[in-house]
Amino acid sequence: EDQRRESLMIVSSYAAKYFHETMLTTDEGQNIGLSYFKERGFNADTIKKFELGYSPDQWEAFTGEALKQGYQEEFLVTSGLSVKRDNGSLYDRYRGRVMFPIHSFTGRVIAFGGRTLKTDKAVPKYVNSPESEIYHKSNVLYGLYFAKKAIREQDNCYLVEGYADVLSVHQAGIENVVASSGTSLTSEQVRLIGRLTKNITILYDGDAAGIKASLRGLDLILEEGLNVKVVLFPDGHDPDSYVQKFGTAAFKKHVDDSKKDFILFKTDILLKEAGKDPIRRSEVIREIVESIAKIPDSIKASVFIKECSYILQIDERALLTELNKMRQAKA
Ligand code: UTP
Ligand code: MN
Ligand code: MN
Ligand code: MN
Ligand code: MN
Repeated sequence: EDQRRESLMIVSSYAAKYFHETMLTTDEGQNIGLSYFKERGFNADTIKKFELGYSPDQWEAFTGEALKQGYQEEFLVTSGLSVKRDNGSLYDRYRGRVMFPIHSFTGRVIAFGGRTLKTDKAVPKYVNSPESEIYHKSNVLYGLYFAKKAIREQDNCYLVEGYADVLSVHQAGIENVVASSGTSLTSEQVRLIGRLTKNITILYDGDAAGIKASLRGLDLILEEGLNVKVVLFPDGHDPDSYVQKFGTAAFKKHVDDSKKDFILFKTDILLKEAGKDPIRRSEVIREIVESIAKIPDSIKASVFIKECSYILQIDERALLTELNKMRQAKA
């Protein structure tokens, strides 16, 4: 069992080196992969630290080389690096993509995300490794290995959506950043962060999907007993595009200026949707109390009830009654 896991990690680490070297030393790698990363503003340090790479646009370039080096078919297939044809031969899962190795908490390569360079909408933008004994995506966070020291020091973790967001924000010197890449945030991922800090700041994309994911994420974080703040980006931007376009200082200023605690964030979003309709406004209040009811610490919860009462101009006792009802319904 452990031997199988070890073999899978060894072949994954070999693959990361192969994709990285291919990008830096072959013509195709340099002209297509490396220039893509450079155009996106990633510097040599970032490329090296995160072991970014490029997979040749051929059917068997990687698999052929790996087999020649003696790596076993079984591990190539289980790790998802190679795919088996009906006739039993193998081909490369990643072809002509830029490669983002995903590292475990201790820094071993356990999976990959591969981004297409095509703009064709029919081609999936990212292809990710399948689940395996070494890769359970629900309890992995992209960038965590490179972020954990800064998360402890800053006593805060920035949570972004994607690979590129992690890289750009990290490169800007803000190293306490991770992404729940390839899946929506899970409670296991929140608990993983919770071992390093009790404070999470959500920095999701400034589009409808990002707002929806933020609302969902904040409830999940509250449920795990952590503190959560949310920063929204202007529509069409994500942390990567924002920091690359406006620079580190502007990025930090945006984060500081528009950081909201979860009640302010949720009331703003939901009240905007509800408009002036009194029934829908009262539903908003219930939804916010629902979030507060998720907080395990009752002292913390009562502080938020106070804030909620102040922001929404509603009697605190009415909110407390509602809170207790929800708590009892849950118990
Ligand atoms: P986005 O579509 O926001 O991509 O998906 P992005 O990270 O901004 O990518 P760039 O900037 O265009 O390169 C956010 C994250 O969702 C996952 C990836 O982890 C991605 O980084 N995702 C997205 C997938 O796993 N598959 C997809 O097809 C798309
Ligand atoms: Mn397992
Ligand atoms: Mn998006
Ligand atoms: Mn992006
Ligand atoms: Mn994005």
